[in-house]
Amino acid sequence: MNAAPPTHPQTPATHAAPRTPPIGKPGAACSAVVGLQWGDEGKGKIVDLLAQHYDAVVRYNGGANAGHSVVVKGERYALHLVPSGILYPGKLAVIANGVVVDPEVLIKETTGLAQRGVDVHGLVVSDRAHVVMPYHKAEDELREKILSEAGGISSRPGESAHGGGIGTTKRGIGPCYADKCQRSTAVRCGDLINPDVLRAKLARITAFKNATLGGLGAKPFEATELTRWALDLGDQLRSSIRDTTYLLHDLLGSGRRVLFEGANAALLDVDHGTYPFVTSSSTTVLGIPAGTGIPGARIDNVIGVVKAYSTRVGNGPLPTEQINEVGERIRQRGREFGTTTGRPRRVGWLDLVAVRYSALLNGVSSLSVMLLDVLAGLDELRVCTAYRLKNGQTTDRFVPDADWIYDAEPVYQNLPGFPEEIQNARRRADLPANARAYLDLIERTVGVPISIVSVGPDRAQTLLE
Ligand code: GDP
Ligand code: IMO
Ligand code: MG
Repeated sequence: MNAAPPTHPQTPATHAAPRTPPIGKPGAACSAVVGLQWGDEGKGKIVDLLAQHYDAVVRYNGGANAGHSVVVKGERYALHLVPSGILYPGKLAVIANGVVVDPEVLIKETTGLAQRGVDVHGLVVSDRAHVVMPYHKAEDELREKILSEAGGISSRPGESAHGGGIGTTKRGIGPCYADKCQRSTAVRCGDLINPDVLRAKLARITAFKNATLGGLGAKPFEATELTRWALDLGDQLRSSIRDTTYLLHDLLGSGRRVLFEGANAALLDVDHGTYPFVTSSSTTVLGIPAGTGIPGARIDNVIGVVKAYSTRVGNGPLPTEQINEVGERIRQRGREFGTTTGRPRRVGWLDLVAVRYSALLNGVSSLSVMLLDVLAGLDELRVCTAYRLKNGQTTDRFVPDADWIYDAEPVYQNLPGFPEEIQNARRRADLPANARAYLDLIERTVGVPISIVSVGPDRAQTLLE
C-alpha cells in the first residue's frame, strides 16, 4: 500500500468555525446528523452542507458498511469510513472509539481522496476504535451463506427474497462488534502501532479463530502473516491514531463546535431497529456518548434526515414496499443502488409511523427532507400514517421487532402528486402547492419542523427557507 500517511494535527483546527450555524439551534456547540429510516437518506449531503460551521466532524458508530455520497461542484465522492467533513480543508475528521475500522479500506479511501486533491491531514482515528480483521469479513460471509442455506433467518418463508440471511454488507461489521463484546479476541487501533502487544494478541486470536471458523469452512489464518499485514497498515496510519476523547473535550472546552455524523440509521440500530434485521451498532444519537465519550446532555441540536420515500438494502420488513412500477420508477429516478455494495435498494412509500418513532428516539430538533425531486411526476403520493394490526386495531406506534412489523399493514393517506420538476427550486415557496402539502403532512404527523428540503444531490439544490 502506498498511501501518503496522513499526519495528525497536534492542535485543533486553527480557524474557529463561525459562531452561529444557520440551521438548527443558534449557538449549538454540538450537533448531530442522523438518519431516521433504514439508511441512505442523504446524511452525507447534509453533513457536508453543515461542516463549514463546525471545527470537527465525528463518526461515532458503524464502519465501512456506510456509504455517504457527497457531490461538490459536480464531483461525486463516496465516503465509507472517513467523516464527510474531510471535504472542507482545515476541519478535523474524527473516527471515534465507537467505530469499527477496516484499516485497508481506510487507507484506500484516504489515498483516493488525496489523489483527488482533498487535504486528508485532519483525519484522526481513536486508538480505542476496534479493528475489522480479515477473519471478521470471512465470518460475515460464511454466516450469511450458511444461514441462507439453512432456510434463512426470517420467520416468514419467502420474505428473504434478497438472500436469506440478514443481507449484510459483508464488511465484517457484526463479527468485529461481537469480538469487541467478547473482549478476549479483540484488536483495537492502538494495537496496530504496538508490535509486541499485537504479535501476542494475534498468536492467541488466530489459534481461536482457526478452531472456530475452521468448522464453518474458513481457510486457516496464519499469525505471523496477519501480524505483518496489520503492522504495515498500522505504520501507515500511525500519525492519525491517538486518543480522541480528550481531543473532543478539549475542543468543546475551548469553545469549538463539533458535528456528529451518524452512519447507518435509526431503524438499523441494534437495540431500537427492526431486529434482527439491523446492523450491530448504536446508530442513533443514543450511540454518541458511548461512541465518543461526549455526554448526551452536550448535544443540543439534532437534525433528523428523512428521505421523501422509504428505501432499505438487505433483508427485513419494509411495510410500505412497492414491488411494482411505482417502486421501479422511484428506484431509477432516485438512483437507488447501494453506495457500498451496488445492490438495488428496495423502495416503498414514506412510512411516518416509523419516522415519528425514530424522531422520538433521537430527540430531533428539526427534519431534513431529502430527494423530494424524485417524487415529481407521480399522479398520487401515498404516506403511511398508521398500521392496521392482525386483530383489526390500528396504531400509530412502532414496535421494533421484525415479526411484529410483518403483521402490520400500512394505512395510507393519499395526496395528489406534483407533475412539475423541482430541481431548480431554491426556496420552499418555489415548490408547487402539492409538494408543499406533502411537506406539511410530514411536519404535522412527526410533530417536528422541517429546516432543510433537498431537491437534488448538489449543495445548491438545498432549500433552507
Ligand atoms: P447516506 O448514506 O445517508 O449519506 O446517503 P447515500 O449517499 O447512501 O444516498 C443518498 C443518495 O442520494 C446519494 O447518491 C446522494 O448524492 C443523493 N441525494 C442526496 N440528496 C438528494 C436529493 O435531494 N435529490 C436527489 N435526486 N438525490 C439526492
Ligand atoms: P449508510 O450510512 C443502508 C444494512 C445492510 C444490512 C444490515 C446489516 O450509508 O446509511 P451490516 O453489514 O451492517 O452488518 O448489515 O444493515 N446497512 C445499511 N443499509 N445504508 C447503510 O449505511 C447501511 N449500513 C448497514 O444492508 O441490511
Ligand atoms: Mg449510504
